[in-house]
Amino acid sequence: MNLAVFISGKGSNLKALLEAQKEAYFSSKIKLVVSNKNAEGLNYAKEFGIETFISKNEEDILGKLKEKKIDLIVLAGYLPKVGKTLIDQYRIINIHPSLLPKFGGKGCYGIHVHEKVFEAGEDVSGVTVHWVNEKLDDGATILQRQVDINDCKSPQEIADKVLKEEHVILKNAIKILEEEK
Ligand code: GRF
Repeated sequence: MNLAVFISGKGSNLKALLEAQKEAYFSSKIKLVVSNKNAEGLNYAKEFGIETFISKNEEDILGKLKEKKIDLIVLAGYLPKVGKTLIDQYRIINIHPSLLPKFGGKGCYGIHVHEKVFEAGEDVSGVTVHWVNEKLDDGATILQRQVDINDCKSPQEIADKVLKEEHVILKNAIKILEEEK
């Protein structure tokens, strides 16, 4: 599959996918990295010689996806809510740093997810890779992994522990999807 990875931040999940591709962990190829802004993570794409595209306009993004013959969109820390233009024409997956449906939806992104998990006094958190539909963090789960957070003393410690698992589960999800194809 030809992949387009959408980011808005540091891009550590993108980096993990680029490294997985380099070691042939999956056969899919990252052909494009899209962001709504000049995100720090775009530097990883440049390092690996992958084309980047910055735009807030889904029609423009759509044109680029068609040009690059993309089969699957991977949202990896992409903050804008994806609209009908892309949802109607592409299969889209997202990685979310909690055990959805818990701690998903409006306001649940980045460190805010882990603050809510910490305040709730959860023993476990985790990561969910799911299909994207028009509702936030609502599509069918593809893969989910638990992370023991009993030893975490702050939301940041939860975030760090969960992020490590994200880097494993996302490449596994792509491997599963390409084997299903
Ligand atoms: C990750 O925690 C991911 O679960 C969430 O946004 C963060 C992105 O981190 N969707 P990075 O930009 O991949 O480092």
